[in-house]
Amino acid sequence: MQDDSYHHIDAKILDKNADLVFNIFSMVEDNGENRYVLYASKEPRYRDKVRELLQSSDFMEELYIHEDDLVLYFEHATDSLRDYVVNSDATPEKKMAKVYDLSRDVTHQFFEANSSPEILRGSGQVVDLMEKCLENNQLGFYGLTKIMEKDYYTYTHSINVGLYCMSFALKIGMPADEVHELGLGGMLHDVGKSRIPMEIINKKGALTEEEFQTIKNHTDNGMEVIRELGCYGEKVIQMVGQHHEKYNGEGYHQGLAGEDISLFARICKLTDVYDALTTRRSYKKALKTLEALTIMKSQMGHEFDPKLLHSFILMMGPEA
Ligand SMILES: [Fe+2]
Ligand SMILES: [Fe+2]
Repeated sequence: MQDDSYHHIDAKILDKNADLVFNIFSMVEDNGENRYVLYASKEPRYRDKVRELLQSSDFMEELYIHEDDLVLYFEHATDSLRDYVVNSDATPEKKMAKVYDLSRDVTHQFFEANSSPEILRGSGQVVDLMEKCLENNQLGFYGLTKIMEKDYYTYTHSINVGLYCMSFALKIGMPADEVHELGLGGMLHDVGKSRIPMEIINKKGALTEEEFQTIKNHTDNGMEVIRELGCYGEKVIQMVGQHHEKYNGEGYHQGLAGEDISLFARICKLTDVYDALTTRRSYKKALKTLEALTIMKSQMGHEFDPKLLHSFILMMGPEA
């Protein structure tokens, strides 16, 4: 039987000069079964050998860590990636692509395997890295969309929304601390879905009324998750709780309207719908930028803050 307590890692992200704080494994086939064997040890007595091994390896083989070390791995990978983002000459696209991959790994873990607060906290570090890649508009909106996953998954959708939110916030000149918070809120906006059974989230056919109500609860569940973590400000909490409110008051859960909906939630509403329209699902194709913006303006205009929608279209439009 396949042992699923091991987690595939991107070994190219490892800092080859740092001391290992987790063991690394490779997979071997043994009598038709996969087995994990120690590849590099964290034991201090093997430090020099391990460093030599990591520095000489081209990492052609697939490598793994034990799931108990996930948080350590994410911390290590984030530190190593920070060094790459700040100091390497790579293009902004290449840097963001690596940050996106790590972020995908962290959020995938959270939504589909291990919804622990430690994993979730890693997303704050990842948002910092994203901000660095977006700084000075090095990576325009068009460059950003090239990196994003185009199939809809809850976890990549969350990252996309976070990135669109940050990109939009930078464009409209929000202060740096708000850009950061807005990015975090975007990444976390659907976090309440981690409390909804996967069968409902991934259901292919039409939802029953009861299932639909359960899905709707993700805004309140999300606020609860975020509050319990105790490390996010009120703006992020409101953004998570109000991102399905509509400008005309017909959204859920509180039925807020106009500017009673927090600014962060009004921005999230735009980016959330935009990403949903421009990604592919089993039952629908991904729309192009212009098609999505046209629908948002002509058929869904009542759902959005008109001034924000206008700025959003200006940001997205020219490269469509
Ligand atoms: Fe949502
Ligand atoms: Fe969403």
